[in-house]
This record gives sequence, structure tokens and C-alpha cells, in this order.
Amino acid sequence: MNAWLRSVMMPHAGSAYAGRVDSLYLFLFWVSAALFALVAGGVAWSIIRYRRRAGNERGAHLAENPKLEIAWTVLPTLLVILIFFWGFRTYMDAAVTPADALEIKVVAKKWVWQFEYPNGVRSLNEVHLPVGKPVRFVMISEDVIHSFFVPTMRVKQDVVPGTYTQLWFEPKEIGVHELTCAEYCGRGHSDMQGKIWVDDQKKYDDWLENGGEEGKTMPLAEFGKMLYESRGCQTCHSLDGTRRDGPSFKAIFGNPVHLTDGRTVIVDENYVRESILQPQAKIVSGFEPVMPTFQGMLREREISALVEFIKTQK
Ligand code: CUA
Repeated sequence: MNAWLRSVMMPHAGSAYAGRVDSLYLFLFWVSAALFALVAGGVAWSIIRYRRRAGNERGAHLAENPKLEIAWTVLPTLLVILIFFWGFRTYMDAAVTPADALEIKVVAKKWVWQFEYPNGVRSLNEVHLPVGKPVRFVMISEDVIHSFFVPTMRVKQDVVPGTYTQLWFEPKEIGVHELTCAEYCGRGHSDMQGKIWVDDQKKYDDWLENGGEEGKTMPLAEFGKMLYESRGCQTCHSLDGTRRDGPSFKAIFGNPVHLTDGRTVIVDENYVRESILQPQAKIVSGFEPVMPTFQGMLREREISALVEFIKTQK
């Protein structure tokens, strides 16, 4: 009965902790069901057994019943003490991270999950984990409150701006799990979904080595837009012609720009690439040489993506 209830009431249990949460939950469920049956059954029985039959019937006078009163005080007290310690232990299981946990940094922002691994590999809306190893997520938000929720692991934690929050779990079998945002965070809230891939150590190592490139399944221009928004380009380069610290990207590609040294160059792929990696080489006239270099901070594909994105700005 319990196993059947688990299967209909709970998502798949992806960790040992999930099983413990379910056991506690089902215990509470059965206690509640039993108490409900006891109270509702007692009421129903009393209604029938003690219904008024004759017009002049009077109830019997009842004296105290110490045994009954002690029983209905002591038994529920023991029950809530049990529930407290059981709940507290389960809570502590979730609150205290094992020291050897793999640590992954999470940045939540409207409306994506960004992950960064200890070796610097980043991914977007996609987590890869080795099976049987505890993993700790250290999380922060760049804007509003989000909530990191993995139903199959029975863990959920708010991700807030200004302070780190964390949670951990230990995936016990190979498979794919859903990650979702459980705090309404604006228009794209329901799109804030991710996948958690639990792999064997070899597959995980392989992914960490080769596959951890964010946006690898996106078209270049789209990926470029994401980088434009996430790497700070938008702070200085507008898309609508507005003047900020750097030239606007509006209709810049393919057109000539005047430089501070008097030359005029056409904005092509190489000019954009050079401006990202050596921003001081060719400064557009009227602007200060304030842009930091992105040398070593962007992969080739990321630079190509930014070029493609700038190309689409008409
Ligand atoms: Cu992020 Cu809802």
C-alpha cells in the first residue's frame, strides 16, 4: 500500500534523501488519515447512537474519567514529539552539506540558470553530475527572487539577489531530472526550466572536458545575443542608436566608422573581433579608450556569435 501510494503521490525519488522525505510525508499522511477516521467516525457513531428518540429524553450526567483524559493528552504529545525529531533530522540532512561535495556556482537571472564548475566550465540551463557524488549548489540571483526546485530530489531553495543560498543532494542513479523555477519571477518564469543529467563518472568527465560550452545548441546570432546581455556588452553598447560609453551596434556592421587617428575603416568580422580582443587598437572617434579586453575570456565560437549578433543589428 505504501509503495503504491509513493508511486502515485510522489515524483520519482532521485536520491536517498528523497526517500526519507517521502517516508516522513507518508507517515504524516497516515497519521492524519487515522485521526480523521477516528474523529469523523466517532462523530458519526455518536449522532446515530445518541440521537434524540423521545420528546422528554435527557442526557446522562457524566463524571470525569482520568484514565481517558491522561491518554488523550499523553499519546498526542508523544506523537508530536516523534514528528518533531523525525522532521528535524530530515531537515538537518538537507541543511548540512558533506565536506567532499562537488561545488557548482549558480547564477539565476531573468530567465535562465547559469552554472559554473570548479574548472571554469560554464553551462546554461543544463547541469551534468556524476552519479553517487554529493553536489552542492551555491546560488545567487542577478535580479529578482527565483527558486531552484528539483522535484525528484525533493529539494527547493530560494535564489535571491545580494546573498548566497545553497542546497545539496546526492543523485543515486543515472538519468535525467527536471529543474524548474518555483518563484514567480516575471514574464519568462515558466520558461525557466533546466535539465539535470546524472551520468557515470566517465561520461561526466567527458562532458566537463569537451561539452561544457554554454549555448552550444543555439544558432550563433541567438547565442551572441545572450552573450551580449550576459557579458556586460549592453552596459556600453546600445542596440537602438542611443549613445553610451561605446558606439551603438545599430546598423554598424558593414558600414564605415571614423577612428580617433583619422583613418576610416569598414566594420567587418575582423574589426569586431579585434575590438573585442584588443579594444584599444582602433578607437571610434568621439569615444574614450575605456573598454576592457576580452582576450582569454571568450572562446572562438563565442566571438563568432557576437559577430553574428552584431551583423543582425540593422
Ligand atoms: Cu525564475 Cu521564476
